[in-house]
Order: sequence, then structure tokens, then C-alpha cells
Amino acid sequence: MTKLLVTGAAGHLGRAVLRHLAETSKVASADIIAASRDPNKLTDLAAGGFETRVADFDDEAGLVKAFAGVDRVLIISTDELATPGKRLSQHRNAVSAAAKAGVKHVIYTSMPNPDKSLVTFAPDHLGTEEAIKASGVPYTILRNSWYHDNYLMGMPHNLQVGKWYTSAGTGKITTLSRDDCARAAAAALANPPAGSTTLTLTGPESLTATEIAARASAAAGKPLEVVDVTDEQLTHGLTGAGLPPFVVNMLVSADANIRAGNFEQLTSDYETLTGHKPQTLAAYFETQKAALGA
Ligand SMILES: NC(=O)c1ccc[n+]([C@@H]2O[C@H](COP(=O)([O-])OP(=O)(O)OC[C@H]3O[C@@H](n4cnc5c(N)ncnc54)[C@H](OP(=O)(O)O)[C@@H]3O)[C@@H](O)[C@H]2O)c1
Repeated sequence: MTKLLVTGAAGHLGRAVLRHLAETSKVASADIIAASRDPNKLTDLAAGGFETRVADFDDEAGLVKAFAGVDRVLIISTDELATPGKRLSQHRNAVSAAAKAGVKHVIYTSMPNPDKSLVTFAPDHLGTEEAIKASGVPYTILRNSWYHDNYLMGMPHNLQVGKWYTSAGTGKITTLSRDDCARAAAAALANPPAGSTTLTLTGPESLTATEIAARASAAAGKPLEVVDVTDEQLTHGLTGAGLPPFVVNMLVSADANIRAGNFEQLTSDYETLTGHKPQTLAAYFETQKAALGA
């Protein structure tokens, strides 16, 4: 029996990974451990035969216990972005605990090109990758592209007003559905590539803002004009909309990263790992017509 543990099991990605482990990768639920800061959120999974455990990346000693007897662990990056440095220290705790508990393989959800990325939180991912490599535990690093799903945050409003303000210019980005990221993580947990590998998981195409807007517009049945602005103008607009400074800086840095070409890379790693073609952004938007305001 090979025991597989998923951290962050109460999150969107964690839940989807557990579903893909059981349904797509056909792993017996008895071999899967769902771990979260709050296992009370996992009662449905426990009822479905999954073991549940407490795993909080702020508690390294607790993590060593959580990872006891586990062969492979998926470390899902946390959403702790408000306090600089906190997320990296959480991830280092998780890596260190995995090594201490004798975990045989670590899988981690990173981001594309963390070494040269302009995105504010890229150092968290780079630092975690370095910690994993220094731990001596064999690993699969999954550098997940931006989710298609991220567009559901701003695009409904953009479509409502008919304008999308961006400083990405003519830069391109490849995006991948969160569900496809989950399928890939489940595949890596169930059948990790031999040794230690870093994979960059991308969608099937790299698109400019104008091309993305055309796809959103087609799905929603509403016109959408892309309005080019500078980073300073975007910062001003997002701040005026009431977003917290760390979110504003993150969104502006993401546009700057697209403009710099650091998000445009396409690979076939997703299909090689899963044997499955990634969903296109247009197909994803078609499934989200109501959320887009059609
Ligand atoms: N590629 C992208 O475009 C993209 C977009 C958004 C987020 N992300 C990253 O991918 C991760 C998963 O995405 P998601 O959509 O599932 O996000 P989500 O639904 O917001 O989930 C947040 C995750 O952070 C975990 N977490 C927070 N604090 C933690 C702690 N102290 N210890 C352990 N886990 C902690 C949560 O686990 P529990 O609640 O179960 O403890 C949960 O899995 C995010 O946390 C973020 O790092 C990537």
C-alpha cells in the first residue's frame, strides 16, 4: 500500500485533486489522506472513506505527525500573501516536516519561471523549490500556469462595463484550468515521474489580452474593449476600486510579467504527465457563461 497525502484539502485545488485521485487515477480511497488546517471541513471526504488529518503549515511539529507513514505528499502552496515572507516560511516548514517524517516523494505546486518572474510572490515559489531541492527528498515540482478560473474575478465586471484595463500590452499568457492543474497533481501523486523533475504545466495556447477579451466576449455575448494603461494608471484604478495594496501590487506585477514575456511559455508537460489534452480558455469560458454575465 502506498499512502498519498494532500495538504490544503479544504481548498478548491485540494478538493479537486482528491476527486481526480479517486476518479481519474483510480487510487483506493483507503490509500488517500486528506489533510487540512480544519478537518471539520472534510467530513464529507471522511464519509467517503478518506482518512483525514490536521496539517497546518504554521505548526512544523504537527506536520511531522501528519506526514507519519506517508509515502508521497502533495504540498499545495498556501494563500498567505498579505504578510511578506510568511508563505515561504510555511512552505519551508512543510518541506522540512516531510523530510523528518521520511516521506519518499514531495510534489509541490509552483509557478512558471519563478527565477525571473516579476510577480510579487515569485520569491515564495523560488524559495520553496530551493528548500525542496536542499531537503534531499525526491520531488516533482509542478509549475502551474495562471488558472483560467482567475478571470472569473475581474472579467464579469469588465464585461458589464465593456472595458478591460490592462498594462499587459501585447504580451502573451498561457492559462490552464484549475481542474486540469488538479488532474496533473493527482497524476503526479499516483505515478510520479522517476527521480526528481520540474514540470511547467501550461494550457494549449498563449494569448494576448485582445485574444482573451475576444473569447470572453464570445462566451458572454457582450462587447469588450481592451484599454491599454500603464502600470501606474492600473495601480491608481485598482486602488480606487478599493483593493488592498498587496493585491493591487500583485495584479500589476502580473501584468508587468506578461508584458516581459515571462508567462508566454508553452510546454507539452501537462499532456505527457496526464495523457490528456488541456482545456482551452474558450472552452472554459463556455462552461462559465452565467458567471460571465451572459
Ligand atoms: N495558478 C494560479 O493561477 C493560482 C491561483 C490562485 C491560487 N493559487 C495557488 O494555489 C493554491 C491552491 O489554489 P486554490 O484555488 O485551491 O486556493 P484556495 O481555494 O484559496 O485555497 C487556499 C489553500 O491554502 C491552504 N492554506 C492556507 N493556509 C494554510 C496553512 N497555514 N497550512 C496549510 N495550508 C494552508 C488551504 O488549506 P486548508 O484550508 O485545507 O487548510 C487551501 O488549500 C493557493 O493557495 C495558491 O497558493 C494559484
